[in-house]
Amino acid sequence: MVIGVTGAGGQLGGHILDELLARGLKGADIIAISRSPEKLQRFADKGVQLRKGDFDDAAGLVTAFKGIDRLLIVPTSDLRPGIRLPQHKNAITSAKQAGVKHLVYISTLGAHRGQDLFTTHIETELAVFASGLPWTILRMGMYYDNLWMGTIQYALTAGVYAATAPTPAANVARTDVAAAAAALVAASGFNGYIYHATGPAAQTPAEIAATIAAVFGKKVDAVTVTQDQFDGALKGAGLPDFAVDAIGGIEAARARGMLDLVTHDIEYLTGRKAQTLAEYLAATKHLAEAKPAGH
Ligand SMILES: NC(=O)c1ccc[n+]([C@@H]2O[C@H](COP(=O)([O-])OP(=O)(O)OC[C@H]3O[C@@H](n4cnc5c(N)ncnc54)[C@H](OP(=O)(O)O)[C@@H]3O)[C@@H](O)[C@H]2O)c1
Repeated sequence: MVIGVTGAGGQLGGHILDELLARGLKGADIIAISRSPEKLQRFADKGVQLRKGDFDDAAGLVTAFKGIDRLLIVPTSDLRPGIRLPQHKNAITSAKQAGVKHLVYISTLGAHRGQDLFTTHIETELAVFASGLPWTILRMGMYYDNLWMGTIQYALTAGVYAATAPTPAANVARTDVAAAAAALVAASGFNGYIYHATGPAAQTPAEIAATIAAVFGKKVDAVTVTQDQFDGALKGAGLPDFAVDAIGGIEAARARGMLDLVTHDIEYLTGRKAQTLAEYLAATKHLAEAKPAGH
């Protein structure tokens, strides 16, 4: 069985390839697809086949997907509204044309019609269902890793963790999402199943603040802000409007409880427990030196 992984040059895609190799799959049975395959020499050294594939180039994708039995589609990263859905639809249509036998798509917890980020995922899921191909969906929670994009640095300098509501969310380590995705694409079956890659607990902003405080030995308080204040802080930090809309949209979905779903799917699929936030922070604590506030 030949397995294909798109987005191989991204962080999640790289972890998925590592997981597939760690499972003992032969490199020759894995096809890594990326816009920049030349950057993936470390996988070529392990026998992984590298192919160029860009979701903006449907014809090229048909060539890239030839010979693949199970294809894992990693969502693309351009958050400008209207960009990703046609890209994902190109990937699905091209997979069908290329003769792929099973699609695995990584979606998001809380996929719904609303803000573009969530709409993209629910509409991609619907396109997967409509493709007529056997499919599996893995809906992922928000990465703990996102906290290192300024939130932890701010919490450690200002002593504040800002959120718009006390609703909990089941965030997750990116590496655990990768392990679950690898398990789904490496096995046969799982046809028509939707799994949810979540952390082992849903935590409120107060619990997240307390975890950061405990791991770093600093005082961090959760404070409640309005959605306008939340978005305003992102704008003030220099984020473009589409990014404010996406991150603010995630916060709005979180506040409405759409990310408050805990499953044991990671443990079920991988045989190991999903990392807690405290474990994740302890393992990445050194990043506080590498990514100080303002960087
Ligand atoms: N759950 C969360 O908290 C969370 C957070 C951030 C992102 N995400 C989503 O999860 C995905 C993977 O996350 P990550 O951490 O690996 O992000 P990342 O390191 O920023 O990687 C971005 C990914 O998008 C792919 N990509 C971008 N444009 C593409 C195109 N035109 N055609 C094909 N692939 C394209 C890249 O593939 P190549 O460079 O190999 O072509 C790469 O795999 C992201 O793309 C995003 O959709 C989720």
